[in-house]
This record gives sequence, structure tokens and C-alpha cells, in this order.
Amino acid sequence: MLKGKDILNTAQFSIDELSLIMDTAADYEQKVKNYEIIRDMDGRVVACLFFEPSTRTRLSFESAANRVGARVISVSSAGSSSTAKGETLVDTIRTIDGYIDVIVMRHPEIGSARIAADNARHPVINAGDGSGQHPTQALLDIYTIRKEKGSLEGHTITFLGDLKYGRTVHSLGYFMTMYKNKMIFVSPESLRMPEELTADFRSRGAEIEETDNVSEALSRSDIVYVTRIQRERFNNPEEYEKLKGSYIIDRNTINKAKKGITVLHPLPRVDEISTDLDDYEGAAYFRQAHNGIFVRMALLALVSGVR
Ligand code: NCD
Repeated sequence: MLKGKDILNTAQFSIDELSLIMDTAADYEQKVKNYEIIRDMDGRVVACLFFEPSTRTRLSFESAANRVGARVISVSSAGSSSTAKGETLVDTIRTIDGYIDVIVMRHPEIGSARIAADNARHPVINAGDGSGQHPTQALLDIYTIRKEKGSLEGHTITFLGDLKYGRTVHSLGYFMTMYKNKMIFVSPESLRMPEELTADFRSRGAEIEETDNVSEALSRSDIVYVTRIQRERFNNPEEYEKLKGSYIIDRNTINKAKKGITVLHPLPRVDEISTDLDDYEGAAYFRQAHNGIFVRMALLALVSGVR
């Protein structure tokens, strides 16, 4: 179903494809927990090209590729590749396409993943294109929601923080719409969810509310998805200084929220989730990061056609 496909954005998926990815990830999770040696991608090479900083996404992709039996080559900063000499993305991709079987790429420009996909014969997986999309994060987010909540449907989820530049919420919004969850958007006025995205979610049947009342929103939410203010996307550093620390979720906030609320965050956090929340049982953000391994193993194997 996914063999040879590029993974560029979350609007591209059908429910059947999502079920296949979740089930394949669950199967790999079991195998990893049993210390099975997996050779599904034996003989294949995955390129991890990261032209923007990353800890979780790059290392979990590299770990996932290794665990599923592939070998990995990588670029871990724009400064360490010929990008620094002025090579275009198109030329870089055309070259690397001849070395590998799958390309995983993070890049600061919106739309860069599409350009890479148009210039590669092999599947391209978007690991974040500027403030555009981050589909593999959204896949691990729904895998986490399914595990934490027992189902993917019918929840109320609050998206909190930088909804303008945060690519993870842009991606997750499509999945929440597909699985009929209600979304509440809470952000500083200047960091609201882009209008064209809200309109697109609504045209697909989403129920959306926007509010600035965090505690009221959390009193009705089954899940809160917190995001970092995306400092690197601001043209004006003063603007960032004004907005940083706008929302801080701590133990006290969660004590007043709906009982059993699950707290998600793609990480890294700066100060928007206080560390006093880390031992709350619904604080799922480190489990969420861990789930990235299984979902990325599944994706690599599926686009390669070995599963
Ligand atoms: C996110 C990203 O890069 O968009 N991080 C991640 O991949 N887990 C979120 C962020 O940087 O704030």
C-alpha cells in the first residue's frame, strides 16, 4: 500500500494506510522488546539528511533504520555538506539518490520535501520542512494516543503554544480531523493556527474552537498537546522575547484540568512544561518520543516494500 511512496504531509494518508502503519509499528515494538534481530531491510541504505538541528527525529530515524536491518549514512548539519559551498537542494538530492534506497530529510524551507521528492527516484520522507509539516511526528503522536487512551477517536484535544510556526500541530491537525476528535486551539494572538489550515481542517469536517482561556479549555480536554515557541522562525528577536513563557503548564495547572488528562509534547521543551509535571502519570512526552522508533521502523519498511 505504501511501497515507493513519498511521505510528505499528513493530508496524504487514508485511514487504511494509517492502520497499516500503526499495526506494523506495534508488531516491531513487540519484536524489539523481545530482542529479536530484524533483517527486513537487509542490504538497503537509508540517508538521513538533516539541514536543521534535531536530536529525536534524526537519532530515532537512525536507530529505527539500524533496528530494521538497514545501514545509514547521514548529514547532520547544512555546514557539513556541499550546501555550504552553494550547491542547490536539487543537485544534492539527485546525487544522493544514487547512493541510497530511502531519503529522510529535514530542511528549513517549507516545500523542500516536495522538491526533494520530485528529484529523487527513491522514497523521500519529510522529517520537517520549515514551519510546514512534520508527518512522522504526527504518526508517532497518534500511535501514542492510541496506546495511552486505548482509541484514536472521539477525544477533545487542546493544542497549546505556537500554532503558527509549529509544524507538528499542522500535521497532527489533519489526523485529529480524520479520527473525529474535537480540537481547541490556544495560542498568543500573533501565533494562531494559520487561517488556511483551520479552513482546510473545517472543510474536512473538523470541530474547532479557539480560545485564550487555558484552564477552561483544559477542564474539558482529554489530551493537551503543548508546543515550544519556535524561536528560530522569528525574524524579530524582540517579538520572541515578548512571547516566550506565554503559557507554562505545571502540576498546579494539571490538578485543575480534566481528570486523567494526557500531556503530550513533541520535545524539545524550553519552559512550557514545568519539570514538576514529569512524574504525573499522564505526562506521556518521553513515552511519546520513545514510540518514534517503532513508527519510523514501520515507515522505512513499508515505503521500501519489504513489509
Ligand atoms: C519538533 C520539530 O522539530 O518540529 N521536534 C521534534 O521533531 N520532535 C518540535 C520543536 O522543535 O519544537
